[in-house]
Amino acid sequence: LAAACCSLLLVIGVTAGRVIQVSYIGCFKDSSTRDMRGLSGIKSVGEISVSEPRVISGNMTQDFCSGFCALGGFPYFGLQNARACFCSWDFGSIGPANESDCNMPCNGNSSQICGGFWLNSVFALKYPKRSCFKQSQMPSLNVSSTLPTSWSIAAQTALDCLIPCEASAECQAVISSGQQRLCHLLRFAYPPASLSSTDGDFFLRG
Ligand SMILES: *[C@@H]1O[C@H](CO)[C@@H](O)[C@H](O)[C@H]1NC(C)=O
Ligand SMILES: *[C@@H]1O[C@H](CO)[C@@H](O)[C@H](O)[C@H]1NC(C)=O
Ligand SMILES: *[C@@H]1O[C@H](CO)[C@@H](O)[C@H](O)[C@H]1NC(C)=O
Ligand SMILES: *[C@@H]1O[C@H](CO)[C@@H](O)[C@H](O)[C@H]1NC(C)=O
Repeated sequence: LAAACCSLLLVIGVTAGRVIQVSYIGCFKDSSTRDMRGLSGIKSVGEISVSEPRVISGNMTQDFCSGFCALGGFPYFGLQNARACFCSWDFGSIGPANESDCNMPCNGNSSQICGGFWLNSVFALKYPKRSCFKQSQMPSLNVSSTLPTSWSIAAQTALDCLIPCEASAECQAVISSGQQRLCHLLRFAYPPASLSSTDGDFFLRG
């Protein structure tokens, strides 16, 4: 991450664990060699113990598994036998299974499916795009712009402004005013006519 953004002043990485999208892929076979091996060699993560290479819980849900695997930045997770969660960089080595055989409700939420007997319900995780912010001179004002270009958020530091910008797909730049405790999240790469450099520091999203 640092290398990708090395010329930029401020870098906001993907906050580990922040997931933008979870999507179901399908039902896949497992075997004793294990199809999804991302947790191999890991004994525990915080207070959660790993029974290699999976986490087992009497309260297993899709949400728990997606959140857990997102901590490691894994692109896939699988749920098996109502209670096991696998994280992985790949899946499908043992082949697909009949969709109707992934039919076990999750132990922790009976309205979700958590795989089947030696079968994984496999899901994909998509993460937010990483952003870098570069502090720069405010571009010259474009007085002809009539598009809505900002909305405001209470903030104390520039970082308080960069985080919501990072979280928004639309935000392209930020003006941070520590004095006024305000962020202006900008939808375009130049500020609207009503803002000027006296309104704060300008950060362009890269
Ligand atoms: C499941 O979660 C509930 C509430 O969080 C907790 O009281 C219970 O002990 C958990 N059960 C298991 C088997 O982990
Ligand atoms: C999947 O299971 C259903 C219901 O048991 C069965 O009708 C169908 O033929 C199976 N499909 C395959 C590809 O095995
Ligand atoms: C259980 O799963 C359903 C379906 O995914 C979801 O809408 C619901 O919020 C979950 N319940 C809890 C308590 O998380
Ligand atoms: C200002 O607006 C004009 C006309 O819409 C456009 O051609 C120009 O590129 C804009 N200037 C900047 C700095 O974006």
